[in-house]
Amino acid sequence: MRSTINGVDSFKFVLEQVVDDLRGVFVGVHDVLAVLGAYYGARKVYDAVGAVAEAMYVHLSGKASSTDWVASYGPWAVVTGSSEGIGRAYANELALRGLNIVLMSRNERRLARAKSEIEMDCKVKVEYIVADFASDNQTELYKTIEAALADKEIGMLVNNVGVMYDFPDVLLNIPQQKLWQLIHVNIGAATMMTHMLLPGMVERGRGGVVVVSSGSSTHMTPQMTVYSATKRYLDYFIHSLAYEYRNSGVTFQCLIPFYTATRMTAYSERLSKGGWIVPDAARFASSAVETFGRSQCTTGYFPHTLQLWLGQAVPNWLWMWGSEKLNNSLRQEALARLARRASRYGSQEVLGDSP
Ligand SMILES: NC(=O)c1ccc[n+]([C@@H]2O[C@H](COP(=O)([O-])OP(=O)(O)OC[C@H]3O[C@@H](n4cnc5c(N)ncnc54)[C@H](OP(=O)(O)O)[C@@H]3O)[C@@H](O)[C@H]2O)c1
Repeated sequence: MRSTINGVDSFKFVLEQVVDDLRGVFVGVHDVLAVLGAYYGARKVYDAVGAVAEAMYVHLSGKASSTDWVASYGPWAVVTGSSEGIGRAYANELALRGLNIVLMSRNERRLARAKSEIEMDCKVKVEYIVADFASDNQTELYKTIEAALADKEIGMLVNNVGVMYDFPDVLLNIPQQKLWQLIHVNIGAATMMTHMLLPGMVERGRGGVVVVSSGSSTHMTPQMTVYSATKRYLDYFIHSLAYEYRNSGVTFQCLIPFYTATRMTAYSERLSKGGWIVPDAARFASSAVETFGRSQCTTGYFPHTLQLWLGQAVPNWLWMWGSEKLNNSLRQEALARLARRASRYGSQEVLGDSP
């Protein structure tokens, strides 16, 4: 009997000891968690303040500075896909900064109009090369371009040309020809033009190379799958190049715009209307050009940076879910517009890209 009481007492004693010890441990764990939490919170605040400060520097400091673009980079700039849209507007911005311009795209009438408009606005030389970056004969295409540019000191290359599907859709609804076009235009043109013009810049120890990627490259974006994948290629391409040629005197930049009202987004009335969040090409380019040399990777336009931050704050699954919903609704809108046009004109018509 006695031993049982002793057994109960000693068990109670051991239990109290264990509880006491555990309490001590939990207080310790609690303290560690509190420290970790405080560190995590401080880190987040530090990152957020850093991001805001960097955005202020990237988006505002260019306006205050007076870079001599010709002295810094060279006398000529090549802008691909520049008969209209972002490329046309970016070419204008470079011309305003004193650079002579070579425009490149498929449609000679549009190129000639852009040339005369830029020449009228800015006292620089403007030339153009009619070139289809989706050409079946890629070797011949780049030989011809190289010959046309041979006598010029190209200081800036803006790899702007890019194509999207006619409207967002799933892979198997995209014709093979369109897929080749995306590969040749979005990937091939930037790669081959940079390979052609970078040697001269490296030799002279000055120059600038820009690629126009897309906000859709920052996450996997369903219904723009091939488009966003080609843009992801550009991100990797330019950042690796910047590292390889970091001591060359050449400046590299990856621009990642979000929706901008151009022919590319003409499939949607909502996007075509534009506004603060969806700027027109001129507004976007005048902001983007100021960021050159200030950031190796930027949206180029502050409201797009807000969209980038929002995108970075959400998990991948939520981005993909949201993209699919948005792209479904944009496709419905595009199909409805096509149907309206078909009934008006009696034929199907492509809404976006046409030479
Ligand atoms: N708009 C947006 O919402 C948006 C968003 C993010 C990124 N971006 C990127 O920004 C860049 C410019 O887009 P954008 O909206 O300004 O497009 P855009 O208005 O459709 O203009 C595209 C330009 O490229 C030319 N082009 C198209 N296919 C060509 C080809 N096969 N060979 C040579 N030139 C060709 C077009 O001229 P021709 O038709 O005369 O050849 C035009 O000058 C693209 O890389 C695009 O991916 C656009």
